[in-house]
Amino acid sequence: MKVREISNSKKDYTEFVNLFYRTDYSFKSNQISNIQTEVDPCDPIPDYNEFCDILNFGLYQYFVLENDDKKVIGLTQVLENEICEFTIDREHQLSGNGRIFYQLLEKIIKASGAKNIVLTCYFPGSMIFWKKMGFKNHNIIFTKEL
Ligand SMILES: CC(C)(COP(=O)(O)OP(=O)(O)OC[C@H]1O[C@@H](n2cnc3c(N)ncnc32)[C@H](O)[C@@H]1OP(=O)(O)O)[C@@H](O)C(=O)NCCC(=O)NCCS
Repeated sequence: MKVREISNSKKDYTEFVNLFYRTDYSFKSNQISNIQTEVDPCDPIPDYNEFCDILNFGLYQYFVLENDDKKVIGLTQVLENEICEFTIDREHQLSGNGRIFYQLLEKIIKASGAKNIVLTCYFPGSMIFWKKMGFKNHNIIFTKEL
């Protein structure tokens, strides 16, 4: 299992759409999240060229979790010390992969000089996950000192 930055390949674009636009959040405790069937009109799915533009713009960093078969099973969007999005493929949820991904990501964020990690979460299942990763929350704001 390894973490790498996302590339602008068509293969990574497909995973980007699957993980961020076709995988719903973990609303329920101990359940795999649903397939997202409706697209938020305020957040339309970027086409491949727009995806490349997003990566070139460089505001966010995107990291993927790749398993030993080189399949991408997780994706995260990071802005400095903030985790903005964090998703494990539905077929690989609740099997310890989110924990592995988070632990590898924490090392990367810490190595960048950050003293803490922050995120916003209001999905009951994922809130349990973040608490298990050592975060403290004040309503929907989660923080962890490094
Ligand atoms: C939330 C998510 C990232 C967790 O990753 P995962 O691979 O499913 O979680 P793991 O199997 O590594 O679980 C780690 C721990 O968190 C707990 N956990 C994870 N998801 C949970 C859920 N929905 N309900 C209750 N506990 C959960 C696990 O039981 C495990 O606890 P344990 O160590 O005591 O056994 C993943 O389910 C996901 O991508 N969900 C959809 C997108 C999403 O909601 N992202 C977060 C947005 S803030």
